[in-house]
Amino acid sequence: MQKLVITGGIPLEGTVVLHGAKNSVLPILAASLLCQGETVLENCPRLTDVFAACRILTDLGCRCHMKEHTAVISADGMCCEEIPERLMQEMRSSIIFLGALLGRCGVCHLSYPGGCELGPRPIDMHLDALRKMGAEIVQNGGRLHCCAAGGLHGAKVHLKYPSVGATENIMLAAVRAKGTTYIYNAAREPEICDLAAFLRQCGAEIHGDGGDTLVIHGVSVLHGTVYRIMPDRIAGITYLAAAAITGGTVQMKQTEPAQMENLLPVLEQTGCRIDIADKTLYLHAPVKLRALPPIRTMPHPGFPTDAQPIFMALMTCADGVSVFEETVFENRYRHVDALLKMGAEIYVSGQTAVVKGVRQLSGAPVRATDLRGGAAMVLAGLAAQGVTEVTQIFHMDRGYETMETVLSGLGASIKRENLE
Ligand code: EPZ
Repeated sequence: MQKLVITGGIPLEGTVVLHGAKNSVLPILAASLLCQGETVLENCPRLTDVFAACRILTDLGCRCHMKEHTAVISADGMCCEEIPERLMQEMRSSIIFLGALLGRCGVCHLSYPGGCELGPRPIDMHLDALRKMGAEIVQNGGRLHCCAAGGLHGAKVHLKYPSVGATENIMLAAVRAKGTTYIYNAAREPEICDLAAFLRQCGAEIHGDGGDTLVIHGVSVLHGTVYRIMPDRIAGITYLAAAAITGGTVQMKQTEPAQMENLLPVLEQTGCRIDIADKTLYLHAPVKLRALPPIRTMPHPGFPTDAQPIFMALMTCADGVSVFEETVFENRYRHVDALLKMGAEIYVSGQTAVVKGVRQLSGAPVRATDLRGGAAMVLAGLAAQGVTEVTQIFHMDRGYETMETVLSGLGASIKRENLE
């Protein structure tokens, strides 16, 4: 087990090159199962969730290897349609392989994904949609046994909520299904558009991505391609926030500002100045951050739930009172206790959190609770007076590529140590 040791109070300054998006590359790795020939993914982030997805592909009989930031996959040798429990448990979002496996071979056996730190993670929308497309799904002892004997067929699917994962699973099941699939109330996140762009490059017929209705005409064959994964907009806002919370400046390269259009204006409302030059962002922090108007997390294009812990960390040091309402996940305030331990003033009631900015946070030993909650603790540690030790950092390694290297490159005093 390892920990991050941070000495706060240093204004960060320098340049960050943003890595590829975890929440885009994972469904695209699953999508590679549907392709004949070789798929090459560039700007592939080196994250533990990505390595776990590659292990699943290999276990299914595919060839999958990563060299620096490029993943090369060939699914031609796929010889298995079962994902063992041990691999399913390594990564909660491995349910994304369900649609691809059914689309590829019409049968698959995998585990019901456990809940996670954010609360129960039901998959009823995934299963309901796939059943409408002709899959028979039996749940037995925590395992899902799925079969579409005559192959999947198109369907009209109305999602009760614009679920990202359900939209992606239906896309992966539909691209090689017989006929046309309509997804109403589809998720609109940029990662959905990245998946659709990848699939179109492989020969799929998909229209409407980015809007709330997706139309997918099934085709019989998809071919491999060379595709560059979009940048990680949540990692991007995290590193911009690191400069903001320490009163610093940062230049961030290889971004897609348009994909952060629901985030950058909120950062500017805290008093940060943000300049954009093509794919490079520049942030100059104010001496003191301003409190924000109420923040309500929503599906895209609303304020993303993944950024809630990040902005809460910022607001613990802001001048004034901010209010957060978390509407997407049941249990996404698990980082609050650690922030309170560092001297923050936060009052949680149900899905609402009220944050009163304090003059100065104090370093403390804290334990990461989940991916973005752990990142929030690191941000608080960068601003705090004294030393902060963050343990359970395997959570952050799922979604941030060597976070300590990026932050120390901006002048932060942060190092990764083994727990004695
Ligand atoms: C994706 O999770 C992301 N993960 C999450 O990022 C992100 O927070 C979330 O979308 C929302 O944007 C990946 O892409 C790998 P959902 P996902 O299905 O697909 C409920 C991070 O930090 N729901 O849109 O699991 C569900 O319980 C992670 O990078 C059902 O009720 O999210 C939740 O309350 C965290 N039934 C809500 O919908 C279902 O069948 C949104 O979930 C499916 C979902």
